[in-house]
Amino acid sequence: MNAFFIMIKHDIHKMYQESVQCVEAEIDFVEATYKKLRGNSARFLREDFSGTGQTAAEWVSRNKNNKAWAVDLDGEVLKWGINNVLPNVSDSQSLTYIQADVRKSNIAQMDIVLAMNFSYFLFMQRDVLRNYFVTVKNSLEDTGVFFLDAFGGYEAAKELTEERECDGFTYIWDQHSFNPINSEMQCYIHFKTGDGTEYNRAFSYYWRLWTLPELQELLIEAGFSQVDIYWEGTDEKSGEGDGDFKVSKIGTADAGWVCYIVALP
Ligand SMILES: C[S@@+](CC[C@H](N)C(=O)[O-])C[C@H]1O[C@@H](n2cnc3c(N)ncnc32)[C@H](O)[C@@H]1O
Repeated sequence: MNAFFIMIKHDIHKMYQESVQCVEAEIDFVEATYKKLRGNSARFLREDFSGTGQTAAEWVSRNKNNKAWAVDLDGEVLKWGINNVLPNVSDSQSLTYIQADVRKSNIAQMDIVLAMNFSYFLFMQRDVLRNYFVTVKNSLEDTGVFFLDAFGGYEAAKELTEERECDGFTYIWDQHSFNPINSEMQCYIHFKTGDGTEYNRAFSYYWRLWTLPELQELLIEAGFSQVDIYWEGTDEKSGEGDGDFKVSKIGTADAGWVCYIVALP
């Protein structure tokens, strides 16, 4: 029993879910923003770079008419989702896992496509990223909406590690190297568990740190007609982000920020 408990506790996908993802807040934003923009409720959502499909699962849990497709290249990570996330979904038919390149999933006529957790930063050439954006545009309904997130700030280009205590383990974000000549960076997630076990480089990301002007230009070049940046407000007491993202033309020159990009076909 103890060994079983430890095995579950130390699963890297579980630790990732607990330390990195906040799918409830993400879907709150996506659901409310779609409704505000389109005046009705979205139903069909595709989660690109889905990993274990946690966000797609949250989507289908919100309404019995919602359907989601979770698309990822990695069969192992999808299998984890099928074994650990799908069983918690009340209607298993509402969530489909697809092993494919996001540019070729053929899952179209979507109300919403998500590219979250900066995953599209792995497309490093302008043409390649623009081509991905074109495929997203082509897979959306005319009334569809594309949601992405992005991060930046002067600390985003720094080589640093940040530790955060989570329930039973430490999460370590490692911006390992950054090359200012091409903006490419190597990042890792490490975990350290209470019993001293270290999961070094549990997740590895080789990315280009795209800027918001570049991303907005590429989305427009890909054929999106409107691109807005939703910037997070500041909690007056703590000086930290307040979790409320609003359309903005002017951001704050913070050390580190995360924002949403919302693109309309
Ligand atoms: C940072 S994880 C994102 C996980 C999840 N979306 C999240 O929000 O936490 C990136 C995922 O993208 C997947 N991936 C990388 N390149 C891909 C591609 N071309 N097509 C589909 N999935 C890809 C990887 O297998 C990995 O699971």
